[in-house]
Amino acid sequence: MGRLSAMRMLVFGGTMFVSKAVAAEAVRRGHDVVCAARGTSGDVPDGATLVRIDRDTPDTLAALAALAGERFDEVVDTSIMSYTWVVDALAALATTAAHWTFVSTIGVYADHSKPGQSPGYPVCEPRAIHATLADRDNDPGLYNAVKVASENAVRDAVDNRAFIVRPGLISGPGDRSDRFGYWPARFSRGGRVVVPDVEQKIQYIDVRDLASWLVDAVEQRIIGTFDAVGPRWELRDCLRAVADAVGEATEFVPLTAEQLAEAGVEPWMGPRTLPLWLPPEYAGMAAHDPAPAREAGLRTRPLDDAVTGALTHERALGLDRPRKAGLTPAEEAEVLACAENP
Ligand SMILES: NC(=O)c1ccc[n+]([C@@H]2O[C@H](COP(=O)([O-])OP(=O)(O)OC[C@H]3O[C@@H](n4cnc5c(N)ncnc54)[C@H](OP(=O)(O)O)[C@@H]3O)[C@@H](O)[C@H]2O)c1
Repeated sequence: MGRLSAMRMLVFGGTMFVSKAVAAEAVRRGHDVVCAARGTSGDVPDGATLVRIDRDTPDTLAALAALAGERFDEVVDTSIMSYTWVVDALAALATTAAHWTFVSTIGVYADHSKPGQSPGYPVCEPRAIHATLADRDNDPGLYNAVKVASENAVRDAVDNRAFIVRPGLISGPGDRSDRFGYWPARFSRGGRVVVPDVEQKIQYIDVRDLASWLVDAVEQRIIGTFDAVGPRWELRDCLRAVADAVGEATEFVPLTAEQLAEAGVEPWMGPRTLPLWLPPEYAGMAAHDPAPAREAGLRTRPLDDAVTGALTHERALGLDRPRKAGLTPAEEAEVLACAENP
């Protein structure tokens, strides 16, 4: 195959986590990358250009019109939960872009209890509204509903040029959700570790693998809708493998869902939780079929490598920082005491 010519790519965001990893990978491969963001979350990668735009202001449309004049081959939109942002970008840029990437979420499916799902399974009802992350706190279904509406808008505008990816839990450098990272950080302290004693599958996708696949899709003009998920693990095997990769001496103390509930510990995320543990009604959320994405070129690094990336990032953030998810050392000691002296 001949050498690919460099493309002009517009990446919305580019100052943090997923969109920044995509911009960095595209620059690394020699593409001409413009990032459109406010520039408040961080810097764009070296070699990319930042065009300042606040997608929440009335100036957005003029800024998008100016970007449209630059004629991009590719647009990557990771809009978290604003339908308005998505349709404004499409209105301005869809006619000229040869390929359009939209980052959605695995959360769009209507029924999270069922394992083995893939695109084609029913999704939740769309809500075509502008919303913010703060709105999500009061309306848990909103995020997924806005993503469904946004996916539909992308398909309506650029169906035969659209690459829509639905990532599951994203891990790795830049992750600030404290979910996957909790475990390598916790195992690095060693000692007795409270783990959930449950039958449950888990999947994660390292941000670097996701970014690499997104740039592959740009270069190869991959179209369609895919779940961006890695291999399915049994949760207890995954935690064991993470602990082995970290390499500190640890003793697992498995507690049942009942014991954890008794001790006031919740699943998944938030204070006093055990991340990656899912309630039964979400048993299928981290058990999607990884084959379609793999067949479309998604390559996932070995778990050891994912753990090293996550732990390096955790150490840079500070292992003792207040976390959005997990147990503090004091909480874990309390839970252990509660389980041992019921
Ligand atoms: N994290 C996960 O596990 C997970 C799982 C499934 C799906 N996803 C999806 O993955 C995607 C990426 O998520 P991410 O957290 O990495 O976010 P991201 O889209 O990579 O980063 C957010 C970007 O939005 C920009 N931004 C925020 N407010 C803005 C505004 N008013 N105007 C212009 N730009 C603005 C930020 O830049 P400035 O602040 O500098 O403006 C930042 O660069 C999202 O679609 C998310 O729904 C994430």
